[in-house]
Amino acid sequence: MILASREVILGISAGISAYKSADLLRRLQELNFDVTVIPTQSSLNFVGSATWEALSGHPVQTNLWNNVYDVPHIKLAKKASLIIIAPTTADLLAKIANGLADDLLTNVVLAANAPLILVPAMHPEMWANAATQENVAKIRSRGALVIEPDEGRMTGLDYGVGRYPTVEKIVSQVTKYLEISLPLAGVKVLITAGGTREAIDPVRYIGNRSSGKQGFAIAKAALAQGAEVTLVAANVNLPTPIGAIRIDVESALELHREVIKHFNVTNLLFMSAAVADVRPDKSSDQKIKKSNLQAINLRANIDILADVSESKKKQIIVAFAAETSGDMLEEAKRKLVTKKADLLYLNDVTDGAVFGSEQTSGWILDSSGQSDAFDLSNKDTLAFELLKRAMDKLG
Ligand code: CTP
Repeated sequence: MILASREVILGISAGISAYKSADLLRRLQELNFDVTVIPTQSSLNFVGSATWEALSGHPVQTNLWNNVYDVPHIKLAKKASLIIIAPTTADLLAKIANGLADDLLTNVVLAANAPLILVPAMHPEMWANAATQENVAKIRSRGALVIEPDEGRMTGLDYGVGRYPTVEKIVSQVTKYLEISLPLAGVKVLITAGGTREAIDPVRYIGNRSSGKQGFAIAKAALAQGAEVTLVAANVNLPTPIGAIRIDVESALELHREVIKHFNVTNLLFMSAAVADVRPDKSSDQKIKKSNLQAINLRANIDILADVSESKKKQIIVAFAAETSGDMLEEAKRKLVTKKADLLYLNDVTDGAVFGSEQTSGWILDSSGQSDAFDLSNKDTLAFELLKRAMDKLG
C-alpha cells in the first residue's frame, strides 16, 4: 500500500493502557511518520495533553469546538494518510462500527479516507462480549485492521484476552498491513556491549566500569528498524532487548571468539564493549591468599577490532573510544585509522561521566576525516544517529 504522505493520526481513547501509546508514538516517529495525536476527552484522565504535545511536537485538540473557523475535523481527515487508534475502547469500537461522530476523533475517522488500524484493549469480558465481537467484525469487513489484543493480566487481578499488545507486535502488524518495509529489514547487526572481566582467580578479576547501556540502546534501535541483531554481552546486567540473539561472555578471549564467529555474515559491527587491554598471565584455579597478591603478571589481550578489520569485506565497523585527557580528538582519529573503522564515537568520560548513565556526549568521527560534536543527549538518540550513519555508508 502506498501512503499519500507520512502524516499519521494517533487516536487515544480512555483505556488505562493509554500510557503505552507514548512508546508507540515514538516508534511511529522512528518509521519517519509525522504523528498528530487526537485523544478523546476522557482519555485525558489517564494521559494528559501535555505528554502528547511534547512527544508529537504538534498541538493537541479533543473537541470540535476549538478553532472552528479552521474546520479541524475535515482538515485533519484530509491530511491523514493513516489513522491508528490505540488503545481503542469497547465504546469507541461501537461508535466506529455504527458511524457515530460526537467528538473530534470520531469525526475525523468518519471523514477520512485513510486506512484505519485499531488496537482494542479492554477487560476480557468486554472483549468477548457478542456486541464487541460484532462491532469488530463489522469494522474488519470494511477493510480496517483490528489487531487482536494479547492475553495476560488486567489492571486488577483478572486475567484473559484483552491486554494492549506489545508495541513490537503493533509495529510489526502495521508495517505488514501497509506492506512498508522497515529501513533495516534484512540487515545483520553485530553489537558487543559491556566490559570484559579477566580472571585473576575464581573470585577476583580485572574489569572496567562499562554498563553496556550504549550497546543495548543500539540493539533496541536496530531491532525497532527491522534489523537482525546479535548482541555479545560482556557482563551486562540489563534485560535482553526483545528479538535480539544474546550471547553472554566474560573475558576478552571469549568476546574475540564470538566476534570472529559472527563477523563474516555481519553487515554492521558496533564494537561498543570495553575490552580489557590486558589479562593476568595466569589465572589461578584457587583463590589466591592476600599474602601472595603483591604483584600480578599481565599479558596483552589481542585488539579484537584491529584483528577483525583485517578480514573486513563490505562490513561497516563502528568503534567507540572513551578518553579522559590529552588531545582526545587526535587520539580518537588515530584509533579510527589504525583499527580501520568506518565510524568512531568518542566519549568524553572525564570524571567517570557516561558510565552507567542514560546520557552521553562526545564526537562522531568519520573515516572521511569529518568529525561532528554530539551534544549531551540520551544513549537512544546516539544509537539512532550511529545506525543512520552506518547505513548511509553501507549504501
Ligand atoms: N577494542 C578492541 N580490543 C581491544 C581493545 C579495544 O576491540 N583489546 C575496541 C573497543 O571495543 C573500541 C575501540 O577498540 O571499539 C577503542 O577502544 P579503546 O579502549 O579506546 O582503545 P585502546 O586501543 O584500548 O586504547 P587505550 O590505550 O586508550 O585503552
